[in-house]
Amino acid sequence: MKTIIEPFRIKMVEPIRLTTIEERQAILRAAHFNPFLIPAEHVLIDLLTDSGTAAMSSEQWAGMLRGDESYAGAKSWYRLEETIQRITGMPHVLPTHQGRASERILFELLGGPGKVVPNNNHFDTTRANVEHSGAEAVELVIDAGKDPQNRHPFKGNLDIGKLERLIGEVGAARIPVVMVTVTNNSGGGQPVSLENLRAVRAVCDRHGLPFFLDACRFAENACFIKMREPGQQDHSVRDIVREMFDLADGATISAKKDGLVNIGGLLLMRDDALATRANNLLILTEGFITYGGLAGRDLEAMAQGFEEVLDEHYLEYRLRSVAYLGEGLQRAGVRIIEPPGGHAIYIDAAHFCEHLPVDQFPGQALLCELYRSGGIRAVEIGSVMFGHTDPATGTTIHPPMELVRLAIPRRVYTQSHIDYVIEAIAEIFPRRRAIRGLRITQAPPVLRHFTAQFAEV
Ligand code: F0G
Repeated sequence: MKTIIEPFRIKMVEPIRLTTIEERQAILRAAHFNPFLIPAEHVLIDLLTDSGTAAMSSEQWAGMLRGDESYAGAKSWYRLEETIQRITGMPHVLPTHQGRASERILFELLGGPGKVVPNNNHFDTTRANVEHSGAEAVELVIDAGKDPQNRHPFKGNLDIGKLERLIGEVGAARIPVVMVTVTNNSGGGQPVSLENLRAVRAVCDRHGLPFFLDACRFAENACFIKMREPGQQDHSVRDIVREMFDLADGATISAKKDGLVNIGGLLLMRDDALATRANNLLILTEGFITYGGLAGRDLEAMAQGFEEVLDEHYLEYRLRSVAYLGEGLQRAGVRIIEPPGGHAIYIDAAHFCEHLPVDQFPGQALLCELYRSGGIRAVEIGSVMFGHTDPATGTTIHPPMELVRLAIPRRVYTQSHIDYVIEAIAEIFPRRRAIRGLRITQAPPVLRHFTAQFAEV
């Protein structure tokens, strides 16, 4: 088996600045041990997110120049609408500036006090938009999806029994929509099988419920289905994608992931009456229905990106290169969420920093060490992001896992960059007991991970 190479060559380069450990030590201190507060130019390998960080192709850049900036009915809009309708089969395509704008519109229409919205796992902005509407966000991922070492091929699946029980408990009338996130970002970038999507559809049909996908990483999910689901090997990713969307009544999409663009989103639906109401909200805050808060050139880049992401050589390389990082870390003894996800590797920071109690933020402490010794930026998904104080008892509640996510931007880093990341982390691992814990010195009441400040314990 030969190496699966990057299926592109590099036409434009952006220098990355090499810094010394001493410089990074000072930068980290100035950023109060929070990598979100580090200026990006001081980062060597930036694995903070795979969102909006993709490199665009020459065809996308060519499209940017062709972008039609007409306020209404731009040619670029019709190209995007036709592309998305052809790929997904959804009749109503609404452009938005990013995924959370689609979520805000959807839940303003479907949410509200007393409502309950199930999902395998809600992404933070999805949960926030559900809750902002007054509704309750419920998570129904299968139990295997919560066990970091379980190698279930579709750990993102929604538990059908739990869904039936929820409907039995609260009643179908209180559930305005059932969501499934593909791939399941908050659960480790794990895929959802076609079989599971069909089962969710069947439950929704039995109870008359609409079914929406959070389809940010729809192409990566479809590629996993092709590789892992019995009977799917001979189907094209394009056909599998179509089958996924055919099972749903609509979708929210952040085009900043599998759309291969730096900004953009979509809200898709079949229901004519709902689409009319959504269009009215779109005009209120995003813009007219043929641009939705985006420039014509952005629509053009999206239309091209959604086609390119279905290239199976690209997807095979994409999933392989993320798995390559995971396997390299495992060889060094680092424990990760298994199997590797589609867009990121999640390090078990509680294991990596087992000498640190959770109230000294092992994930954040590991983030700081990755930056200090390797110039690598990642994100904590643990007690900083999700820890909170119980208002009733005053005690701190910690999430079940302390994770550090290494998200891989699309088409940006080469295998040698990833080798460097593996080497840097493998070098830290044997001396990990020297990593110092952190305490919070300042934090806002909500979404504290973005701006919290820390000091070393
Ligand atoms: N849904 C999922 C599953 C996501 O991963 C994201 C964004 C969104 C919705 C919101 O989209 O950012 O365009 O408004 N995830 C990014 C991340 C931010 O780093 O995982 P957005």
